[in-house]
Amino acid sequence: MEAQVRAEENQAPDSARILILDYGSQYTRLIARRVREAGVYSEIHPYDMATEALAAFGASGIILSGGPESVGGDDSPAVADAVIDAGVPLLGICYGMQALAAKLGGAVESSSHREFGHAEVDIAADDSLLGSVASAGRPLKVWMSHGDRVETLPQGFEAIAASRNAPLAGMADYERRYFGLQFHPEVTHTENGQRIIERFVHDICGCPSDWTPRNIIADHIERVRAEVGSQRVLLGLSGGVDSSVVAALLHEAIGDQLICVFVDNGLLRLNEADQVMATFGEHLGVNVVRVDAEQEFLDALKGEADPEVKRKIIGRKFIEVFDREAERLEGVEWLAQGTIYPDVIESAGSDTGKAHVIKSHHNVGGLPERMKLKLVEPLRDLFKDEVRQIGRELGLPQELVGRHPFPGPGLGVRILGEVRKEYADLLRRADDIFIGELREQGLYDDVSQAFAVFLPVKSVGVMGDGRRYDYVVALRAVETVDFMTARWARLPYEFLDRVSNRIINEVPGISRVSYDISTKPPATIEWE
Ligand code: XMP
Repeated sequence: MEAQVRAEENQAPDSARILILDYGSQYTRLIARRVREAGVYSEIHPYDMATEALAAFGASGIILSGGPESVGGDDSPAVADAVIDAGVPLLGICYGMQALAAKLGGAVESSSHREFGHAEVDIAADDSLLGSVASAGRPLKVWMSHGDRVETLPQGFEAIAASRNAPLAGMADYERRYFGLQFHPEVTHTENGQRIIERFVHDICGCPSDWTPRNIIADHIERVRAEVGSQRVLLGLSGGVDSSVVAALLHEAIGDQLICVFVDNGLLRLNEADQVMATFGEHLGVNVVRVDAEQEFLDALKGEADPEVKRKIIGRKFIEVFDREAERLEGVEWLAQGTIYPDVIESAGSDTGKAHVIKSHHNVGGLPERMKLKLVEPLRDLFKDEVRQIGRELGLPQELVGRHPFPGPGLGVRILGEVRKEYADLLRRADDIFIGELREQGLYDDVSQAFAVFLPVKSVGVMGDGRRYDYVVALRAVETVDFMTARWARLPYEFLDRVSNRIINEVPGISRVSYDISTKPPATIEWE
């Protein structure tokens, strides 16, 4: 009896769950993330998910995402009967609202005015979704991204929001508990967007907040144990947040069945290899095998300038090295990786294949088709902040958990064009000065990610009486919550001045420093 009670407690994440149907929006994952931030488990499935699977999911509510299509077309993705038949609250966002309106007999038209970016909407003060989200009489600042708009509401609906370009920017049918929003509450630019999501999942769908870091860990430990049984797992440890958390999680799940391999590929930050070895020996008590593969990686990258090809080469090399190590270790059957949700989205477009490919991330896109090891990726459905939370919960030190993300291909995508050891050495020193100063001045935690980029172009300078003709580095620092959108960090001029002077004075071979002021989108965070 007691065991049963405990089992039920552990099943809390399954007790309430939100289904997100993906119509191809770049923001679909954000919806999932926001729902989970509200403490409710959520999963994303394609909008045309099989009827039986939808019924078996047992959703407490369904959110229909945005998408790039137009509702009017012959092949336009529609709302399935099964969604309506589920009898649970629905929230359509942007395309999801239009598709829902069309399904229920409303009219959707192409608007002559495409609305993209910041907008203001007036909201119905007594609405159960939006009411009280903005103070009385004040418009709500929202993020819009649409061409079409709802012109006539379906029967049973009333308008709950209006913008200048979309008089029907929100709709509600209180009896059936169906809602539609033309704007994106999941995007941080929408004021109190999280509050809107919370009201939907908690108040309207009745889901409690029980998707907590402890539950996430318990759930993942159980899944890992079921997956790998008593077999041994090899983990590629990079020293970044993701693989460190995987190490801690696997350590807790399978103890000494875990063996970590740390590959020094020559594309790491200054002294990183030594630090990783020390940290893991000290903090985790895990056996870490260090492999020096710098020359192997540099040889493989020689002469290659194309970013995507470089990523694939680095990914392939990693796997080759791991395979080789695994063969030397007895009975290793699995390769663990710190792949997280955003890696998956940006590689495959999305899990459900409904969005467009942006970049292939090495730890997803570069895997050879016939790999000798089976893959275990316990963080594959988690966002970065969830990964950090569970890292803390697992007892990892803050300086490790709070570390800025570092891409799998490392300096390979921060040296523009061909990768050479000479360039990597210069970049490491410049980057170390920049990051060291950020820490020193207490600015490190104010930015989400910061690094230096090596530009293989030479620029003229004077130093003392001499002329210099040396390379250029760019500094990049961004603020972001989700790494899908980012703004460049407004670092103090005096700080940038100091970093620039130090780099030019202390790193012979670099004669000029610039600061990157590009926003994502359209620029990405990394330069390649
Ligand atoms: P972008 O450049 O796509 O970066 O705006 C978003 C976040 O992803 C990281 N990033 C990568 N991580 N392998 C990784 O593991 C990669 O190939 C890769 N490319 C970018 C980037 O550092 C940022 O945090």
